[in-house]
Amino acid sequence: MDKELWANVDRYIADLLVPSDKSLDEALKASAAAELPPINVSPTQGKLLMLIAQIQGATSILEIGTLGGYSTIWLARGLPRDGGHLITLEVDAKHAQVARGNIARAGFAERVELILGKAIDSLGQLAANSRGPFDLIFIDADKASLPEYFQASLKLSRAGTVIIIDNVIRDGKVIDAASTDKDIQGVRRMNEMLAAEKRVSATAIQTVGSKGYDGFAIVRVLS
Ligand code: SAH
Ligand code: DHB
Ligand code: MG
Repeated sequence: MDKELWANVDRYIADLLVPSDKSLDEALKASAAAELPPINVSPTQGKLLMLIAQIQGATSILEIGTLGGYSTIWLARGLPRDGGHLITLEVDAKHAQVARGNIARAGFAERVELILGKAIDSLGQLAANSRGPFDLIFIDADKASLPEYFQASLKLSRAGTVIIIDNVIRDGKVIDAASTDKDIQGVRRMNEMLAAEKRVSATAIQTVGSKGYDGFAIVRVLS
């Protein structure tokens, strides 16, 4: 374990490949000023989300867990230059307010729709209103509800939809079957669903960097 080295290498990569820019810097500044928790994806992870959206050719993106909109801006940058839309779900009114400002300053007010409310309720509404299927879904809200978010995401998917789930390794605690942490149990139950679900193909990748030791799951919906 060498967290300082991981952070230094992350900074090295970011300095080379992820030049800071005004919209993203301002989003982080406004989030810090409003005392939002600093748990947004890192710059290198944000750019990965943008690249995956582009590789996928996504024109419709769903995000579960907005916070200050930092990952939202990266994902929205992965949309085609003058098309596409992104829906992001957030339960905390203060987070939503900060995110709306950040998203607007980044130039995405027209193409990003923020829905305030419990994600599980909003997901039900989206399905009821036939707002899917989405090309790309990023799940990054409370981890205890991951099994429910995964099931709801499947209902908003088509063959070829890509689902990315953040924070599925949690310092390696994910392998502790006896864990009493509801977040760990949420991740583990979702992983068991991924394993049992015939309609998806999935893997998970461990990561180290400025956010420590964690990881992403990547899911491709088959049918
Ligand atoms: N994706 C963001 C980070 C999200 S942090 C980024 O990388 O920039 C997780 C967010 O999920 C927090 O803002 C939290 O308020 C929100 N959240 C937690 N529980 C939720 C729920 N039940 N429904 C919707 N959002 C929720
Ligand atoms: C936490 C949540 C996240 O989405 C994340 O990327 C890191 C930490 C948290 O709740 O601690
Ligand atoms: Mg996260």
